[in-house]
Amino acid sequence: MKTNLGLCITLISLLESVYGTTWSEWWKYADGISGPEFWGLLNLEWTICTKGKRQSPVNIEPKRLVYDPYMKNIHIDQAHVGGWLLNNGHDIKFKIDDPAKPNSINITKGPLSYMYRVIDITIHFGSSDDLGSDHTIEGKSFPAEIQLTAFNSDIYANFTSAEVSPNGLTVIGILVQINEESTNREFEKLAQEFKRVKYKGNEVRVEDLSLHDLMPETYSFMTYEGSLTKPGCHETVTWVIMNRPIYISREHLESLRQAMTGDEENPNDPMANNNRPTMSLNRRTIRTNINFADPRPGCTMKKNLTYHANFPVLRSSISSDSYS
Ligand SMILES: *[C@@H]1O[C@H](CO)[C@@H](O)[C@H](O)[C@H]1NC(C)=O
Ligand SMILES: *[C@@H]1O[C@H](CO)[C@@H](O)[C@H](O)[C@H]1NC(C)=O
Ligand SMILES: *[C@@H]1O[C@H](CO)[C@@H](O)[C@H](O)[C@H]1NC(C)=O
Repeated sequence: MKTNLGLCITLISLLESVYGTTWSEWWKYADGISGPEFWGLLNLEWTICTKGKRQSPVNIEPKRLVYDPYMKNIHIDQAHVGGWLLNNGHDIKFKIDDPAKPNSINITKGPLSYMYRVIDITIHFGSSDDLGSDHTIEGKSFPAEIQLTAFNSDIYANFTSAEVSPNGLTVIGILVQINEESTNREFEKLAQEFKRVKYKGNEVRVEDLSLHDLMPETYSFMTYEGSLTKPGCHETVTWVIMNRPIYISREHLESLRQAMTGDEENPNDPMANNNRPTMSLNRRTIRTNINFADPRPGCTMKKNLTYHANFPVLRSSISSDSYS
């Protein structure tokens, strides 16, 4: 193992010196020596990709969700933005024009204690309909997932300092499902340009996009504390997964699947399957504002506490049946 890694590192430095490859170019989503299994092993700055216990994405088991009645609806500003849809060799991204502008799009409320400013949208997608999303629900993948990434603008000056800092980021994950036609006009604005960002380095202007209207028509979501799903896997992300998908037409999904990881001269591999495998939850809780309104027997959360501050303790142990 040790020699193998040593060899890889030598190989990589060789590649680096020959082709000028940098770490940010080196990693891939695909299996193999630059794939997710190795992100944290080969670059010491990315150790947390391997050792981290609060990593993303995760599989969401509906029966393990915890209802939090105090969590408000998530708020996202109504303003429209312009930006560039681009292929960076890893993902298809929509980069918002200078997110420091006065009409920057803010995300607040929901599970968030701070105000977060959106910087970009990332699209993960699969080569077949049963692959593509980062997050899975009951073990099932969706054909795509779009992610709005935002940094804590109450505390940090920019994304770069926020991504490595406490409560630095929030990412809203929207699962994408196939339909005869897209039902979301904002997503349509991006989708009709997918064929123009086939190769790495391609970029195309998209004007007048409403992130608010890009969201599916639901206020319910699931939330947990996790990480970025690419190197350096920083554990600074409050994830918010919306509880309803948006829809893409098969035609647009097929144009997305044409995207390549290389440029026109040297297209390399298809970009599809640019998702990270799900990571272990490790005793984290996934909270939701979905009120499962059926009071199944044994499902009520009794308000009685075993401890009463400044009162004589009547029952001295925490009994598990106070949650039954
Ligand atoms: C987002 O918040 C910033 C800082 O408070 C503010 O200047 C900006 O106008 C807000 N954006 C919108 C669209 O309201
Ligand atoms: C981000 O903010 C930090 C702290 O204010 C600053 O030192 C750094 O130069 C900024 N980075 C970028 C890329 O603007
Ligand atoms: C809380 O405890 C009191 C006293 O034991 C009891 O009367 C009441 O029904 C309990 N409430 C709930 C919600 O279990």
